[in-house]
Amino acid sequence: MSSIITTLPRYSGTSLNGKWCYLVDQLDTGYLDHFGAPIDEWGRNDTQRFAYFFDGHLENPSEWVEYGFVEERSLDVPGDWNSQVKELFYYEGNLWYCKRFDLNKKDPVKRYFVQFGAVNYKSDVYLNGKKLGVHVGGYTGFSFEVTEYIKEGKNSLVVHVTNVRAKQNIPTLNQDWWNYGGITRDVNLYETPAVFAEDFTLQLKNGEKSVLEFALKVNGTSLEQKIKLSIPELGLEKEFLTDKSGKLKESFTISDLTLWSPENPKLYSVEITCAGKTITDRIGFRSIKVIGTDILLNGKSVFLRGVCIHEENPIKGGRANTVEEARMLLGWAKELNCNFVRLAHYPHNEQMIRVADEMGLLVWSEIPVYWGINWDNPSTLENGLTQLTENIMRDKNRACVIIWSLANETVPGEARNSFLSKLADRARELDSTRLISAALEKHYLSDSPDTATVEDPFAEKCDVVSFNQYVGWYDGLPEKCSRVKWEIKYNKPIIISEFGGDALGGKHGKQSERWTEEFQEELYKQNVSMLKKIPQLRGTAPWILADFRSPKRLLPYILDGWNRKGLISQQGEKKLAFNVMRSFYKELETQYK
Ligand code: GCU
Repeated sequence: MSSIITTLPRYSGTSLNGKWCYLVDQLDTGYLDHFGAPIDEWGRNDTQRFAYFFDGHLENPSEWVEYGFVEERSLDVPGDWNSQVKELFYYEGNLWYCKRFDLNKKDPVKRYFVQFGAVNYKSDVYLNGKKLGVHVGGYTGFSFEVTEYIKEGKNSLVVHVTNVRAKQNIPTLNQDWWNYGGITRDVNLYETPAVFAEDFTLQLKNGEKSVLEFALKVNGTSLEQKIKLSIPELGLEKEFLTDKSGKLKESFTISDLTLWSPENPKLYSVEITCAGKTITDRIGFRSIKVIGTDILLNGKSVFLRGVCIHEENPIKGGRANTVEEARMLLGWAKELNCNFVRLAHYPHNEQMIRVADEMGLLVWSEIPVYWGINWDNPSTLENGLTQLTENIMRDKNRACVIIWSLANETVPGEARNSFLSKLADRARELDSTRLISAALEKHYLSDSPDTATVEDPFAEKCDVVSFNQYVGWYDGLPEKCSRVKWEIKYNKPIIISEFGGDALGGKHGKQSERWTEEFQEELYKQNVSMLKKIPQLRGTAPWILADFRSPKRLLPYILDGWNRKGLISQQGEKKLAFNVMRSFYKELETQYK
């Protein structure tokens, strides 16, 4: 597992966001020869053509060149290409980006890294014609060291991106959300000292309320370093030594700690000094654990009043990737009286997590192991383990994250059970403090058609048993909710990780008329009454906060490429069902005071 440098945003950096030249390369001419063998040609050669176009004219018209990156043809980064260029709305293919930037001064004692927040789906990255590497997975961050390749003056960063779906990918061929392609999150150039802290963990020790566990890894030539950790507000200052491999793992008691909670999302400024350089972060401390069918936050029983969210701005369309969009989406969840959000179906951008930390929203964080994954493909498993690792490594110090979800609606079977078990083992190896779950499926007992249950071997591996159910929408009409009984044998907490139905915002009619807001409102009322009957229920997350684009939703005049199960419409308007959930959660909030 290559080292993941999680601390880069804590060092000084330069944003590479903004206009990036692009070229649509539908037949991958710049990447494959005409027999399909990789040639990586365009990525390696922008430097040769750097002058070619740089001042806007052809320097050597006789030279054979059939491509070029020109400033007039550019995309905004961060941002999916689908929402920026009409011709790319449905585009699934290959596209080249090129960012030319100046480095005013190259410091001989510093190290340089380029970090991408996410690129969907696969990216090959080149700097000044040198290939830095490849990243697979559209929703997790990655970085490359560029110290030996970056130059003082002009640099050219070229990225080949493909968002073509494939059976062996994660997610695989079928998904109920838009396959937004491109450099969808921030890109930054960071400078670090020659020896620096590449990763650290600082959290409450599992099950403790006043014992912190501190782990750190040094990167560089001299790995044995004195590390200073301080939390000024608590008057804490401690020194440690890393071992010969540059690692330390210590725990120590701390007093007067105010624990993080939705009611009081307390974040402390933490300072870490390594080799003379101090980095800071804002960290909350809380404990989360399961006892029987109860979920305890800081030792107190909690009910997770949640909602599912896709990483999409319904009003603008396209990937949401700014702090303002995070505040809009999570602000809507707060208006719904939520203390919990299920960030579906993939890791969201870091702004969402940082804002949830600040606002006091507990987070279900998920990797896109969704529906029909290629379970018996070893490279698919490796891909899943890598995306899980990248997700946990980025957010393991965020108090708001309490659940690592490993899958959504996957069919039990030997290969799938083994695949998910390996993911669960990796999650626990990386983070013993958080809960493991997955969105499973319910079914009815064969001898009692109105008795619903969950029976899934993977539930044994989960701390919390979660499942999606659509009684009243895909499964009967809303009145069926009053007939369904629930029998779930696990002595574990239950979360309903999805329920709901579509309504076209602004379409009104009788509550018996599907696609109206009145139908959706009645469906929610019936579901809420039914959910109250599940004894081990400890959380609910209706599907979904806001309408979102999906290529699977094709009903003319009603869906037209949108999944309209949102409690909020594509225009950002609250539907009638929004108030049903808000009242239910207000009632629960009072009950759990
Ligand atoms: C599924 C799935 C979602 C999908 C939803 C729906 O449960 O998890 O991704 O959008 O149902 O059908 O709307």
